[in-house]
Amino acid sequence: MGYSVTTPIFYVNAAPHLGHAYSTIVADVLARHHRQRGDDVFFLTGTDEHGEPVANVAAERGITPQELVDENAPRFEAMGPVLESSNDFFVRTSDPRHKTAVQEFLTQVKDNGYVYEGQYEGWYCPKCADFKTDQEIAEGNTCPIHGIALIRESENNWFFKLSAFQEQLEQLYADRPDWVVPQSRRNEALAFIKGGLQDVSLSRNAITWGVEVPWDPEHVFYVWWDALLNYRTALKFGREGSDLTESHWPPTHVIGKDILKFHTIYWPALLMAAGLEVPKRVMVGGFLLVDGAKMSKSKGNVLDPFAAIEQFGADAVRFYLLREVAFGQDGSVSFEGLKLRYESELANDFGNLASRSLAMVRRYRDGRVPDAALDPEIAAAFDGLGDAVARQLDEGQISQALETIWERVRRLNRFVEERAPWTLAKAEKNDAASPEALDVVLHTLVEGVRALGVLLHPWLPTSTETLLDALGCPDLAWSGTTLGSGTPTTVGELAPLFPKDRAESSATA
Ligand code: MSP
Repeated sequence: MGYSVTTPIFYVNAAPHLGHAYSTIVADVLARHHRQRGDDVFFLTGTDEHGEPVANVAAERGITPQELVDENAPRFEAMGPVLESSNDFFVRTSDPRHKTAVQEFLTQVKDNGYVYEGQYEGWYCPKCADFKTDQEIAEGNTCPIHGIALIRESENNWFFKLSAFQEQLEQLYADRPDWVVPQSRRNEALAFIKGGLQDVSLSRNAITWGVEVPWDPEHVFYVWWDALLNYRTALKFGREGSDLTESHWPPTHVIGKDILKFHTIYWPALLMAAGLEVPKRVMVGGFLLVDGAKMSKSKGNVLDPFAAIEQFGADAVRFYLLREVAFGQDGSVSFEGLKLRYESELANDFGNLASRSLAMVRRYRDGRVPDAALDPEIAAAFDGLGDAVARQLDEGQISQALETIWERVRRLNRFVEERAPWTLAKAEKNDAASPEALDVVLHTLVEGVRALGVLLHPWLPTSTETLLDALGCPDLAWSGTTLGSGTPTTVGELAPLFPKDRAESSATA
C-alpha cells in the first residue's frame, strides 16, 4: 500500500533548529513504522524558498534570493542524515518542476471557476507571510505569533474563493472528526471555519520572488499556495522513474500549530477546488519551549540540534524530544533534561536491560538461547502490543505510543528483579532447582528485548539495529512485535547501547 507522510517545508531564511528537527523526527517515526508494516512509503520533506521573508533577507545581505536559497537549502537538507531521517526526497520549491506543476494546478483551479480578480485591503504579517483575518489580530494591530506590527496592505490580487467551501469544510469536519489531531486543534480549526470564511489572496503583485502567475505575469502566486502544493507536485518527480501521484495520495501531514489554518482550512479547500481527495490526516504538534518561550529564529533562543546530537547521538535526541514533549502540546526542552532522560531511561531502563539480558545468556547458557516456554505474565503483557502501538501511531498519538512500549521496558526490568536469574543460576548449580526455571526467564528476556527492538525502531533506529544484529535477528517487520515470533538461537556480544560517559561532559549549549 502507498503511504506518504510529510513535514512542513522549512523557510530557508535562517539556519535549521530543534523546532524544525522536531517535525522531521515525528514524520520519520511514522515513515519508519509504516515501512515496518510493509507499506510502500514516500516520506517527503524540503524547503519553502519563495516569498517575502526570503526576499527581505536576501536584500539585506545584498544577494539575490536565488543565491540565498542555494546557500541555505543544503543546510536543511544536511539536517536529515544527522537526525537519522529516512526521507525519500527533499523538495525545493524553486525547482522548475515544482513551479511548472504549481502553475498547471492553479490554472486548473481557475478554470474550475474558483479564482477572480479583486482588491485586497487588510492586515498582513511579513514574518508569517499571512493575511490576517479580524479574529487573528492582536492588540494594537500586531501579529499574535511574532508580536510585530502588522502592515496595512492594499493591492490588486487574484483571489481564491475560499468562501465557496464553507459547507464542504464543515461537512468534512463532521464526517471525519479525527482528520485533524489532537482534538483541541481540530476544534480550533472548526471554530475558525464556523466564524465564516472569507476569500483569500491567491497572488501578490507587490513582490517578484515567487512562481509567476501564467495568466498574469505581473503577479506571483502567494507563497502559501506554492508551498502547500509541494505535497502534491513532489509525488510526480520525487521518486526516480515513477509517478506516485495516484498511488501515494492522500498524504498524512505533520505540522506545527502555527500553520494550522493553512493546512486544515486553505489546503483542503484548494484540493476540493481541484476535485481531489483531502489529506488522510493532519497531525499537529505544539511548540518546543526554552525557558517557557517558543524556540524560534526571530527570538534567537535556539538550541542547536547538531550540537545535541554530537554529544548524545541522534537516537537519544529523537527519543528525548518525543518523550519529553507530548506530541500536540507545548513543552520545555533543555540539555539538562536530555541528559537526565539519557541516563535514566536510555542507559538504565533500556540499554541496561538489553545488555544484562544478553550477558546472562552468555554467562549461564554459553550464548545459546534456551528452547523453553515463555513466561505467561510477560507473554500477556506483550499480547496485542504491536496492534495497540500501530493504532496509536495512526491516530497521531506519537508520545503515547512510545509510553505504551516503555511500560513493557519497565515490566521486563521488574521481571528481572522478580525472578532474579542470578539466584536461579546458583540454585541450579546446587541442584536446588531444575534448569527449566532459568531457561524460561532467559528465553522470555531475550525474546522480550528482541520484540522491544522492533517496536522501538522508529524512535531509536540506530541502537535498535545494533541490538537486533547482536541477537542475529535483524528483521524489522512489524509482525516481529509478537512475542515468540522470532526467538534468536544464539546471542552475540553487545557493547552498551547508550554509554554513560556520553552524558558526563557538561551541556554544550
Ligand atoms: N514554510 C512554512 C511551512 C510551509 S508548509 C507547506 C513554515 N516554515 S518554518 O520553517 O517557519 O516552520 C516549519 C515548522 O517548524 C512549522 O511547523 C513550525 O511550527 C515548526 N516550528 C518552528 N519552531 C518551532 C518550535 N519551537 N517548536 C516546534 N515546532 C516549531 O512555517
